[in-house]
Amino acid sequence: MAKISVIGSSSMDLVVTSEKRPGAGETVLGDSFKTVPGGKGANQAVAAARLGAEVYMIGCVGDDHYGKSILDNFRKNGVRIDYVEPVTHTESGTAHIILAEGDNSIVVVKGANDYVTPSYVEKAVSIIRESDIVLIQQEIPEETVEYTAAICKNYHVPLLLNPAPARALKEEVIRQAAYITPNEHETEILFKGKDKQEVLREYQNKLFVTEGKAGVRYFNGKEEVLIPSYEVEAIDTTGAGDTFNAAFAVALAENMPLEQSIKFANRAASLSVTKFGAQGGMPTRSEVEGSL
Ligand code: RIB
Repeated sequence: MAKISVIGSSSMDLVVTSEKRPGAGETVLGDSFKTVPGGKGANQAVAAARLGAEVYMIGCVGDDHYGKSILDNFRKNGVRIDYVEPVTHTESGTAHIILAEGDNSIVVVKGANDYVTPSYVEKAVSIIRESDIVLIQQEIPEETVEYTAAICKNYHVPLLLNPAPARALKEEVIRQAAYITPNEHETEILFKGKDKQEVLREYQNKLFVTEGKAGVRYFNGKEEVLIPSYEVEAIDTTGAGDTFNAAFAVALAENMPLEQSIKFANRAASLSVTKFGAQGGMPTRSEVEGSL
């Protein structure tokens, strides 16, 4: 069984569905409102656990009602929470999501996720060292991503960095990570002014650009390849990237060949969008394998 540590955010998603997305200064009437577990870190932890990995979440929640629900959700999904601490006098992270016109828009308030600091992660070094792979995203402080990249390199544990939401990264972090999975927008921010084809060549078998419905692009040492995604009827695309990253990590940790790992992850991500909520459609192992 693959052992995976996920360092990242755990939040509550407050989701409004509406026919129309309001513009600045505009008010529209929505159709529904739901509260569901989310946060990129938590989503990736839950997705990896559903795919059969032994998952350790390293993160923080607030000492509020949302914090308790987030912890319950981890337990329900078999994610180990030995390294998830409630932070007192702080609210849990929240994501304010509008689902409209076939896509989402999200405002994230980090709350307790800002307490996932390097010294906090340091407490979990023993489990990080034992992991087959570590997953990290960017809804936590920048220094924590830098610290984690350095310790993973030091202990020879592969780090899968999902640089979302977008922010510039130090070159050292890019060098230390084993895998980086930006979308097209994040790629532009990470490699500002550089030609995408050149960057793919420079980081062969390391940089995987997720291009939504089109698939995932990378340079395999000989040529640039696009592994297409699977066509499905999408209900809610929130969490599709998280499912991709988690499934990719599970496959890599199990030593699946690279191309097969991407296909596995693409399939998992495509299934995840067929239900409401970031975690609502995240598939089990047998669902992915049965549909491949
Ligand atoms: O990647 C999707 C997640 O991003 C949502 O669950 C929301 O919490 C936002 O942080």
